Amino acid sequence: MTSHLSIQGFGAYVPARRLSNADLERLVDTSDEWIVTRTGIRNRHVLADDESGADAGTIAARRALEAAGLAPEDITHVITATCTPDFLCPNTACLISANLGIHGPMAFDLSSACSGFVYGLETARGLVLAHPDAKILLVSTEALTRRINWKDRGTSVVFGDGAGATVVSACAEGKAPAGGALIEDVVCHADGGQWKLLTVGGGTKQRYEAGDPVDEAFYIHMEGREIYKNAVRTLTNVCHEIVERNGYTLDDIDVLVPHQANLRIIEAVGERLGMGEDRVFVNIQDYGNTSAASIPLALNDAWRAGVFKPGMLALLTTFGGGFTWGAALLRF
Ligand code: ACO
Repeated sequence: MTSHLSIQGFGAYVPARRLSNADLERLVDTSDEWIVTRTGIRNRHVLADDESGADAGTIAARRALEAAGLAPEDITHVITATCTPDFLCPNTACLISANLGIHGPMAFDLSSACSGFVYGLETARGLVLAHPDAKILLVSTEALTRRINWKDRGTSVVFGDGAGATVVSACAEGKAPAGGALIEDVVCHADGGQWKLLTVGGGTKQRYEAGDPVDEAFYIHMEGREIYKNAVRTLTNVCHEIVERNGYTLDDIDVLVPHQANLRIIEAVGERLGMGEDRVFVNIQDYGNTSAASIPLALNDAWRAGVFKPGMLALLTTFGGGFTWGAALLRF
Protein backbone atom coordinates (compact mmCIF):
# COMPACT_ATOMS: atom_id res chain seq x y z
CA MET A 1 0.00 0.00 0.00
CA THR A 2 1.60 3.31 -1.08
CA SER A 3 1.42 5.98 1.58
CA HIS A 4 1.99 9.69 1.86
CA LEU A 5 1.48 9.97 5.58
CA SER A 6 4.32 10.39 8.01
CA ILE A 7 5.28 10.64 11.62
CA GLN A 8 7.98 13.12 12.42
CA GLY A 9 9.83 13.89 15.63
CA PHE A 10 10.03 11.50 18.56
CA GLY A 11 9.83 12.84 22.11
CA ALA A 12 9.46 11.06 25.44
CA TYR A 13 9.53 11.66 29.18
CA VAL A 14 9.67 9.47 32.26
CA PRO A 15 9.51 10.86 35.80
CA ALA A 16 12.78 11.21 37.73
CA ARG A 17 11.66 8.88 40.53
CA ARG A 18 12.73 5.32 39.72
CA LEU A 19 11.38 2.30 41.54
CA SER A 20 13.65 -0.75 41.36
CA ASN A 21 12.71 -4.36 42.04
CA ALA A 22 14.64 -4.05 45.31
CA ASP A 23 12.39 -1.11 46.27
CA LEU A 24 9.32 -3.28 45.53
CA GLU A 25 10.68 -6.10 47.69
CA ARG A 26 10.22 -3.69 50.61
CA LEU A 27 6.60 -2.91 49.65
CA VAL A 28 5.13 -6.29 48.72
CA ASP A 29 5.87 -10.03 48.97
CA THR A 30 7.99 -10.40 45.81
CA SER A 31 11.61 -10.78 44.69
CA ASP A 32 13.90 -9.31 42.07
CA GLU A 33 14.42 -12.84 40.76
CA TRP A 34 10.64 -13.45 40.30
CA ILE A 35 10.06 -10.10 38.59
CA VAL A 36 13.01 -10.41 36.21
CA THR A 37 12.25 -14.03 35.31
CA ARG A 38 8.49 -13.56 34.85
CA THR A 39 8.46 -10.07 33.27
CA GLY A 40 11.96 -8.87 32.30
CA ILE A 41 11.34 -5.64 34.28
CA ARG A 42 14.12 -4.17 36.46
CA ASN A 43 12.95 -0.58 36.97
CA ARG A 44 9.87 1.53 36.43
CA HIS A 45 9.28 5.27 36.91
CA VAL A 46 6.72 6.90 39.21
CA LEU A 47 5.23 10.39 38.90
CA ALA A 48 6.14 12.84 41.66
CA ASP A 49 3.26 13.77 43.97
CA ASP A 50 2.87 17.16 42.28
CA GLU A 51 3.21 15.80 38.74
CA SER A 52 0.38 14.47 36.51
CA GLY A 53 -0.02 12.52 33.28
CA ALA A 54 -0.77 15.79 31.47
CA ASP A 55 2.50 17.27 32.81
CA ALA A 56 4.44 14.24 31.57
CA GLY A 57 2.68 14.39 28.19
CA THR A 58 3.47 18.09 27.88
CA ILE A 59 7.21 17.48 28.28
CA ALA A 60 7.14 14.60 25.77
CA ALA A 61 5.17 16.78 23.34
CA ARG A 62 7.64 19.69 23.63
CA ARG A 63 10.49 17.28 22.88
CA ALA A 64 8.66 15.81 19.87
CA LEU A 65 7.89 19.28 18.48
CA GLU A 66 11.53 20.27 18.89
CA ALA A 67 12.69 17.09 17.16
CA ALA A 68 10.22 17.73 14.31
CA GLY A 69 11.33 21.38 13.98
CA LEU A 70 7.77 22.56 14.62
CA ALA A 71 6.25 25.19 16.93
CA PRO A 72 3.04 24.76 18.96
CA GLU A 73 1.28 27.19 16.58
CA ASP A 74 1.92 24.79 13.66
CA ILE A 75 -0.32 22.15 15.30
CA THR A 76 -3.88 21.73 13.97
CA HIS A 77 -5.15 18.86 16.19
CA VAL A 78 -4.10 17.36 19.53
CA ILE A 79 -4.87 13.72 20.34
CA THR A 80 -3.94 12.23 23.70
CA ALA A 81 -3.97 8.46 24.18
CA THR A 82 -4.40 7.58 27.84
CA CYS A 83 -6.37 5.26 30.11
CA THR A 84 -5.30 7.24 33.19
CA PRO A 85 -6.46 10.81 32.42
CA ASP A 86 -5.98 13.63 34.94
CA PHE A 87 -9.79 14.07 35.05
CA LEU A 88 -12.89 12.51 33.49
CA CYS A 89 -13.43 16.07 32.23
CA PRO A 90 -11.65 18.15 30.95
CA ASN A 91 -9.76 15.81 28.66
CA THR A 92 -5.99 15.51 28.97
CA ALA A 93 -5.47 16.80 25.41
CA CYS A 94 -7.00 20.15 26.46
CA LEU A 95 -4.66 20.33 29.46
CA ILE A 96 -1.62 19.55 27.30
CA SER A 97 -2.76 22.08 24.66
CA ALA A 98 -3.07 24.77 27.34
CA ASN A 99 0.37 23.93 28.76
CA LEU A 100 1.86 24.25 25.27
CA GLY A 101 0.01 27.50 24.48
CA ILE A 102 -2.11 25.85 21.76
CA HIS A 103 -5.47 27.65 21.77
CA GLY A 104 -8.17 26.78 19.22
CA PRO A 105 -7.24 23.46 17.61
CA MET A 106 -9.49 20.45 18.28
CA ALA A 107 -8.18 18.41 21.24
CA PHE A 108 -9.51 15.07 22.44
CA ASP A 109 -8.55 11.92 24.37
CA LEU A 110 -8.60 8.39 23.09
CA SER A 111 -8.99 5.58 25.61
CA SER A 112 -7.75 2.26 24.22
CA ALA A 113 -5.35 1.19 27.00
CA CYS A 114 -2.05 -0.15 25.63
CA SER A 115 -3.30 0.18 22.03
CA GLY A 116 -3.73 3.96 22.38
CA PHE A 117 -0.74 4.99 20.27
CA VAL A 118 -1.61 2.68 17.34
CA TYR A 119 -5.28 3.72 17.59
CA GLY A 120 -4.01 7.32 17.56
CA LEU A 121 -2.09 6.72 14.33
CA GLU A 122 -5.23 5.32 12.69
CA THR A 123 -7.36 8.25 13.94
CA ALA A 124 -4.76 10.74 12.71
CA ARG A 125 -4.77 9.01 9.32
CA GLY A 126 -8.48 9.72 8.99
CA LEU A 127 -8.05 13.36 10.05
CA VAL A 128 -5.27 13.92 7.50
CA LEU A 129 -7.55 12.51 4.76
CA ALA A 130 -10.18 15.10 5.72
CA HIS A 131 -7.65 17.90 6.27
CA PRO A 132 -4.58 17.39 4.05
CA ASP A 133 -2.68 20.27 5.75
CA ALA A 134 -3.22 18.84 9.24
CA LYS A 135 -0.28 18.57 11.65
CA ILE A 136 -1.52 16.33 14.42
CA LEU A 137 0.23 16.17 17.77
CA LEU A 138 -0.21 12.61 19.07
CA VAL A 139 0.70 12.29 22.74
CA SER A 140 0.50 9.06 24.74
CA THR A 141 0.76 9.52 28.48
CA GLU A 142 0.00 7.30 31.45
CA ALA A 143 -0.15 7.78 35.21
CA LEU A 144 -0.72 4.09 35.95
CA THR A 145 0.92 4.17 39.37
CA ARG A 146 -1.95 6.44 40.53
CA ARG A 147 -4.24 3.41 40.15
CA ILE A 148 -1.94 0.75 41.60
CA ASN A 149 -2.91 -1.04 44.75
CA TRP A 150 0.61 -1.37 46.20
CA LYS A 151 -0.56 -4.42 48.19
CA ASP A 152 -1.36 -6.33 44.95
CA ARG A 153 1.86 -8.01 43.82
CA GLY A 154 0.20 -9.14 40.56
CA THR A 155 0.02 -5.55 39.25
CA SER A 156 2.34 -3.40 41.38
CA VAL A 157 5.49 -4.93 39.88
CA VAL A 158 4.31 -4.60 36.27
CA PHE A 159 3.28 -0.99 35.59
CA GLY A 160 5.12 2.34 35.33
CA ASP A 161 4.45 5.96 34.35
CA GLY A 162 5.69 7.71 31.21
CA ALA A 163 4.84 9.59 28.05
CA GLY A 164 5.78 9.67 24.37
CA ALA A 165 4.77 11.91 21.47
CA THR A 166 5.12 12.49 17.74
CA VAL A 167 3.55 14.56 14.95
CA VAL A 168 1.46 13.00 12.16
CA SER A 169 1.04 14.83 8.86
CA ALA A 170 0.82 14.32 5.10
CA CYS A 171 4.14 13.76 3.40
CA ALA A 172 4.15 15.28 -0.08
CA GLU A 173 7.16 13.51 -1.53
CA GLY A 174 6.05 10.06 -0.42
CA LYS A 175 9.39 9.41 1.24
CA ALA A 176 10.24 9.44 4.93
CA PRO A 177 10.82 12.97 6.28
CA ALA A 178 14.04 13.79 8.13
CA GLY A 179 13.66 12.61 11.72
CA GLY A 180 10.63 10.46 10.96
CA ALA A 181 9.03 7.68 8.97
CA LEU A 182 6.25 6.99 6.49
CA ILE A 183 3.17 5.33 7.94
CA GLU A 184 2.58 2.59 5.36
CA ASP A 185 -0.43 1.02 7.03
CA VAL A 186 -2.30 0.70 10.35
CA VAL A 187 -4.66 -2.06 11.55
CA CYS A 188 -6.85 -1.70 14.67
CA HIS A 189 -9.23 -4.18 16.27
CA ALA A 190 -11.32 -4.53 19.44
CA ASP A 191 -13.48 -7.12 21.17
CA GLY A 192 -15.18 -6.12 24.41
CA GLY A 193 -16.27 -9.67 25.23
CA GLN A 194 -13.56 -10.09 27.88
CA TRP A 195 -13.45 -6.52 29.24
CA LYS A 196 -13.52 -7.75 32.83
CA LEU A 197 -10.01 -9.22 32.55
CA LEU A 198 -8.42 -5.76 32.74
CA THR A 199 -9.99 -2.70 34.34
CA VAL A 200 -8.77 0.62 35.70
CA GLY A 201 -11.25 2.04 38.20
CA GLY A 202 -12.30 5.56 39.03
CA GLY A 203 -15.02 5.91 36.40
CA THR A 204 -18.70 6.58 37.02
CA LYS A 205 -19.78 2.91 37.11
CA GLN A 206 -18.55 2.95 40.69
CA ARG A 207 -20.83 4.91 43.01
CA TYR A 208 -19.21 6.95 45.72
CA GLU A 209 -20.61 9.34 48.30
CA ALA A 210 -18.39 12.18 49.46
CA GLY A 211 -16.03 10.83 52.12
CA ASP A 212 -16.35 7.15 51.14
CA PRO A 213 -13.03 5.26 51.20
CA VAL A 214 -11.96 3.79 47.85
CA ASP A 215 -12.26 0.02 47.48
CA GLU A 216 -10.38 -2.50 45.31
CA ALA A 217 -12.44 -1.66 42.21
CA PHE A 218 -10.75 1.76 42.20
CA TYR A 219 -7.41 0.24 41.25
CA ILE A 220 -6.03 -1.67 38.26
CA HIS A 221 -7.47 -5.17 38.18
CA MET A 222 -5.77 -7.65 35.86
CA GLU A 223 -6.20 -11.37 35.21
CA GLY A 224 -2.55 -11.61 34.14
CA ARG A 225 -2.41 -15.20 32.96
CA GLU A 226 -5.54 -14.97 30.74
CA ILE A 227 -4.34 -11.70 29.24
CA TYR A 228 -0.94 -13.25 28.60
CA LYS A 229 -2.45 -16.09 26.53
CA ASN A 230 -4.74 -13.76 24.57
CA ALA A 231 -1.90 -11.30 23.98
CA VAL A 232 0.53 -13.83 22.49
CA ARG A 233 -2.09 -15.24 20.09
CA THR A 234 -3.56 -11.89 19.08
CA LEU A 235 -0.26 -10.03 18.62
CA THR A 236 1.02 -12.83 16.40
CA ASN A 237 -2.16 -12.85 14.28
CA VAL A 238 -2.30 -9.09 13.77
CA CYS A 239 1.35 -9.04 12.66
CA HIS A 240 0.56 -11.66 10.01
CA GLU A 241 -2.53 -9.69 8.97
CA ILE A 242 -0.77 -6.36 8.33
CA VAL A 243 2.28 -7.92 6.71
CA GLU A 244 0.19 -10.05 4.33
CA ARG A 245 -2.29 -7.35 3.36
CA ASN A 246 0.63 -5.15 2.28
CA GLY A 247 2.21 -7.87 0.16
CA TYR A 248 5.21 -8.34 2.45
CA THR A 249 6.59 -11.38 4.21
CA LEU A 250 8.03 -11.39 7.72
CA ASP A 251 11.51 -11.49 6.15
CA ASP A 252 10.86 -7.94 4.90
CA ILE A 253 10.53 -6.65 8.48
CA ASP A 254 13.79 -5.15 9.76
CA VAL A 255 12.64 -4.49 13.31
CA LEU A 256 9.63 -5.40 15.45
CA VAL A 257 8.67 -2.74 18.03
CA PRO A 258 6.10 -4.46 20.25
CA HIS A 259 4.10 -3.07 23.16
CA GLN A 260 6.35 -3.61 26.18
CA ALA A 261 3.98 -5.59 28.42
CA ASN A 262 6.11 -8.54 29.45
CA LEU A 263 9.43 -9.82 28.05
CA ARG A 264 8.04 -13.37 27.89
CA ILE A 265 5.11 -12.18 25.72
CA ILE A 266 7.55 -10.31 23.46
CA GLU A 267 9.82 -13.36 23.15
CA ALA A 268 6.89 -15.72 22.51
CA VAL A 269 5.56 -13.46 19.72
CA GLY A 270 9.05 -13.07 18.22
CA GLU A 271 9.48 -16.84 18.23
CA ARG A 272 6.09 -17.45 16.54
CA LEU A 273 6.96 -14.85 13.87
CA GLY A 274 10.44 -16.32 13.36
CA MET A 275 12.07 -13.07 14.49
CA GLY A 276 15.07 -13.46 16.76
CA GLU A 277 16.12 -10.96 19.42
CA ASP A 278 18.37 -9.18 16.88
CA ARG A 279 15.16 -7.97 15.14
CA VAL A 280 13.04 -7.20 18.21
CA PHE A 281 13.36 -3.92 20.13
CA VAL A 282 13.05 -4.25 23.92
CA ASN A 283 13.26 -1.57 26.63
CA ILE A 284 10.79 -3.00 29.17
CA GLN A 285 13.65 -3.51 31.65
CA ASP A 286 13.83 0.27 32.20
CA TYR A 287 10.15 1.28 32.27
CA GLY A 288 7.82 -1.68 32.93
CA ASN A 289 4.46 -1.63 31.17
CA THR A 290 3.55 2.01 30.46
CA SER A 291 0.39 1.12 28.48
CA ALA A 292 -0.29 3.69 25.72
CA ALA A 293 3.13 5.30 26.27
CA SER A 294 5.02 2.06 25.71
CA ILE A 295 5.37 2.13 21.90
CA PRO A 296 6.29 5.83 21.59
CA LEU A 297 8.80 5.39 24.44
CA ALA A 298 10.28 2.45 22.51
CA LEU A 299 10.31 4.40 19.23
CA ASN A 300 12.05 7.31 20.95
CA ASP A 301 14.71 5.09 22.55
CA ALA A 302 15.27 3.12 19.34
CA TRP A 303 15.50 6.31 17.29
CA ARG A 304 18.03 7.89 19.62
CA ALA A 305 20.05 4.65 19.73
CA GLY A 306 20.30 4.73 15.92
CA VAL A 307 18.33 1.50 15.44
CA PHE A 308 16.34 2.85 12.46
CA LYS A 309 18.40 3.19 9.27
CA PRO A 310 17.03 4.82 6.09
CA GLY A 311 14.83 2.38 4.16
CA MET A 312 14.18 0.10 7.14
CA LEU A 313 10.68 -1.32 7.65
CA ALA A 314 9.46 -1.40 11.27
CA LEU A 315 6.43 -3.35 12.48
CA LEU A 316 4.67 -1.97 15.59
CA THR A 317 2.21 -4.20 17.41
CA THR A 318 0.12 -3.81 20.52
CA PHE A 319 -2.51 -5.44 22.73
CA GLY A 320 -4.36 -4.03 25.72
CA GLY A 321 -7.42 -3.71 27.88
CA GLY A 322 -10.79 -3.74 26.17
CA PHE A 323 -9.52 -5.94 24.55
CA THR A 324 -7.99 -3.67 21.93
CA TRP A 325 -5.13 -4.54 19.61
CA GLY A 326 -3.42 -3.41 16.44
CA ALA A 327 -0.32 -3.05 14.30
CA ALA A 328 1.38 -0.47 12.08
CA LEU A 329 4.08 -0.48 9.42
CA LEU A 330 6.61 2.37 9.40
CA ARG A 331 9.14 2.93 6.60
CA PHE A 332 12.20 4.93 7.71
N1 ACO B 1 6.06 -11.86 43.09
C1 ACO B 1 6.11 -13.15 43.47
N2 ACO B 1 5.16 -14.06 43.15
C2 ACO B 1 4.11 -13.63 42.42
C3 ACO B 1 3.99 -12.29 41.99
C4 ACO B 1 5.01 -11.38 42.37
N3 ACO B 1 5.00 -10.09 42.01
N4 ACO B 1 2.84 -12.17 41.28
C5 ACO B 1 2.27 -13.39 41.26
N5 ACO B 1 3.03 -14.26 41.95
C6 ACO B 1 2.80 -15.69 42.16
C7 ACO B 1 1.33 -16.05 42.08
O1 ACO B 1 0.70 -15.88 43.34
C8 ACO B 1 1.40 -17.50 41.67
O2 ACO B 1 1.71 -18.29 42.79
P1 ACO B 1 1.08 -19.77 42.95
O3 ACO B 1 1.59 -20.56 41.78
O4 ACO B 1 1.60 -20.19 44.27
O5 ACO B 1 -0.42 -19.57 42.91
C9 ACO B 1 2.61 -17.54 40.74
O6 ACO B 1 3.42 -16.39 41.07
C10 ACO B 1 2.25 -17.46 39.26
O7 ACO B 1 1.31 -16.41 39.10
P2 ACO B 1 0.79 -16.00 37.66
O8 ACO B 1 -0.16 -14.83 37.79
O9 ACO B 1 0.29 -17.20 36.93
O10 ACO B 1 2.17 -15.49 36.99
P3 ACO B 1 2.50 -15.20 35.49
O11 ACO B 1 3.66 -15.99 35.10
O12 ACO B 1 1.28 -15.24 34.61
O13 ACO B 1 3.00 -13.68 35.55
C11 ACO B 1 2.16 -11.49 34.96
C12 ACO B 1 2.11 -12.64 35.96
C13 ACO B 1 3.55 -10.91 34.97
C14 ACO B 1 1.17 -10.42 35.37
C15 ACO B 1 1.82 -12.02 33.54
O14 ACO B 1 0.68 -12.85 33.59
C16 ACO B 1 1.61 -10.94 32.51
O15 ACO B 1 2.50 -10.20 32.17
N6 ACO B 1 0.41 -10.90 31.94
C17 ACO B 1 0.09 -9.98 30.84
C18 ACO B 1 -0.15 -8.59 31.31
C19 ACO B 1 -0.38 -7.74 30.08
O16 ACO B 1 0.10 -8.00 29.00
N7 ACO B 1 -1.12 -6.68 30.16
C20 ACO B 1 -1.32 -5.95 28.91
C21 ACO B 1 -2.33 -5.09 28.98
S1 ACO B 1 -2.01 -3.86 30.17
C22 ACO B 1 -3.07 -2.56 29.78
O17 ACO B 1 -3.80 -2.62 28.82
C23 ACO B 1 -3.16 -1.34 30.73
